[in-house]
Amino acid sequence: MKIFLDTADVSEIQKAYSTGLIDGVTTNPTLILRSGDTLYNVASRLLKECPNLISVSTEVVAETADEMIEQAKTYQPLGEAITIKVPCTIEGLKACKILSDQGVKVNVTLIFSVAQALLAAKAGATYVSPFIGRCNDNSFSGIELVRAIANAYSVQMCTTEILAASLRDVHHVSRCYTYGASTVTMPPSIFWKMYDHVLTREGLDQFQKDWESATLLG
Ligand code: E4P
Repeated sequence: MKIFLDTADVSEIQKAYSTGLIDGVTTNPTLILRSGDTLYNVASRLLKECPNLISVSTEVVAETADEMIEQAKTYQPLGEAITIKVPCTIEGLKACKILSDQGVKVNVTLIFSVAQALLAAKAGATYVSPFIGRCNDNSFSGIELVRAIANAYSVQMCTTEILAASLRDVHHVSRCYTYGASTVTMPPSIFWKMYDHVLTREGLDQFQKDWESATLLG
């Protein structure tokens, strides 16, 4: 079970990374725009400042597979954790096949069907990213999509990992892991909600009070 953060905010990532529970990071052009920095700088800082990350997704934006591969070359030298993120288009899948054959980790993104996930696996993807929240926004179940992809991968013995993305709440996270995602990428706000429960807080308050009373008795 791996936890990735879906953000390009390096200080937020460092804060969560210091818990020892974060395995990777995913970014996309929107998140990079929000960070106010370049993708190259963000990825480069992450690889230096968070050395145990196993995957940092850097998304290429181009029309053709050749252009995607050219862009990928900019990020690959940063380190082994660099995972080239390509869209699920024919050109993206071509790029995925070529890069995967060269031993480069690839994340095929914007997955909304089992057929797309199967082609990505065929192209050698390390990860496929079904977008759970965006499925739900469009009136079909993202969690059911994860379950269906996991089922197809199991029947076909695909080694591509399901990286559930576009998460909206903690409940989504638990269900994605339950239904077959090996990895979930989430905004830091969701990560920080995962440990929290009102009954834990209430129980802790009571234990604290009783501990203080017991200490007074002793
Ligand atoms: C995943 O890799 C994407 O960056 C992300 O999860 C998209 O999420 P959104 O639908 O909240 O934009």
